[in-house]
Amino acid sequence: MLKRFHILTVSHKHTQLSTLADLAIQAPDEDALRTKLLRLKSEFGLDELMYMATCNRVMYAFSTANPVNAGFIGAFTDLIHPRLSEAQLTEYTGIFQLLSGMDAVNHLFEVAASIDSLVVGERQILRQLREAYERSSAWGLTGDTIKLALQHAIVAAKSVYSKTGIGEKSVSVVALAIRQLLQKPLNEDTRILFIGAGQTNELAAKILAKQQPRNVAVFNRSLDKAQRLADQFGGKAFPLSDLDGYTEGFDIAIVCTGAQHAIVTPDLYKRLLAGESGEKTVIDLSVPNNVHPDVVSDFPVRFIEIEGLRKMAQANQAYREEEVKKAREILSAFLDEFPMLLKQRQAEIAFRSVPEEVKAVKHKAINEVFRGELDQLDPSARALIEKMMDYMEKKCVGIPMRVAREAAAMR
Ligand SMILES: NC(=O)c1ccc[n+]([C@@H]2O[C@H](COP(=O)([O-])OP(=O)(O)OC[C@H]3O[C@@H](n4cnc5c(N)ncnc54)[C@H](OP(=O)(O)O)[C@@H]3O)[C@@H](O)[C@H]2O)c1
Repeated sequence: MLKRFHILTVSHKHTQLSTLADLAIQAPDEDALRTKLLRLKSEFGLDELMYMATCNRVMYAFSTANPVNAGFIGAFTDLIHPRLSEAQLTEYTGIFQLLSGMDAVNHLFEVAASIDSLVVGERQILRQLREAYERSSAWGLTGDTIKLALQHAIVAAKSVYSKTGIGEKSVSVVALAIRQLLQKPLNEDTRILFIGAGQTNELAAKILAKQQPRNVAVFNRSLDKAQRLADQFGGKAFPLSDLDGYTEGFDIAIVCTGAQHAIVTPDLYKRLLAGESGEKTVIDLSVPNNVHPDVVSDFPVRFIEIEGLRKMAQANQAYREEEVKKAREILSAFLDEFPMLLKQRQAEIAFRSVPEEVKAVKHKAINEVFRGELDQLDPSARALIEKMMDYMEKKCVGIPMRVAREAAAMR
């Protein structure tokens, strides 16, 4: 069973993210994806199949009795991407990594524990794996091997997350910036000014929205993006060109645009203060900084800037990578158990019909083989015999399963 289990995968480790996107199955909707996967399963004689595509990896876990070699991978890729040129097909086929047996199980465990992730310790991979399994299972693609491997991978990964620091210490500069910001708690009147509404400020807004600030103004070059960000807080959106005339004041400014020059100059900052003189908090996540250095030196500012956060993020990343050693030790104990669990599962499947068969033997004994003799007994003797038969049935059905489990454990 284990020999038949394989993983065909390509991840951020093997190619660029743009190529990865091309290698995922191109399907206009879920129905088309399901049809394609069912076709893969039948044409390649797969007993089981699970497909997962994230922005960092494409993975097929499958079980088959057929030989899985370079020819198999080529034909497999050809069926998934029928419009590739010969050269592209050769290139894509070469990128895929094939893992078999325990190597495949080990890979699945490492993916679940986020050891193989682009950002080590990002737990969202566990949710993505679960969702991929649930979808493949709902489409009738998976079976016992994948189910057991995934269940065990999830238990192992949870153990890694709880017993190591692999997922601790944020490696996102944006999350670190907001955490630093919140060291001084917000109140419901805190005035927040976003300058820029690109991906980075979107992420900052998403994290900050948990605090439910109510007084938010967003300035951005294009108004639609400013509006989208402001809507998260029920705030107001303005074009960036209106920033100069903004007179509502602020307590926190979160600045991040792609501009290559300082947007918040000392003059603009003075106007934004609207006559207030107290300390303000300013986060600048832009590279290069969009807040002019004189703003920080000339005004009372609690300044949170990207360089310091980056160093912190790098140190946290290094800490997580150190934790990978511990994670591997934990996974190794779970991996050692896996072949035995699989054998036990095989035994359970093999003996699944035993209770029904024992019941049928009992029924035949009472109603056919010993019917004549039983009919001559008085009702109390007959009831006793039937009671004994019920007892035997109950006790016997579990014996083969128990013996098989014990045998699997001893091997
Ligand atoms: N992505 C990250 O993980 C990350 C992390 C830390 C820092 N950063 C830095 O953050 C900055 C923005 O990155 P991003 O990922 O948010 O980019 P993005 O999604 O492309 O957004 C860029 C933002 O900057 C605005 N913008 C671009 N050029 C401008 C200009 N010349 N004047 C005024 N506004 C301008 C855009 O306005 P429109 O909406 O009108 O186009 C948009 O709001 C960059 O300096 C980047 O290095 C990025």
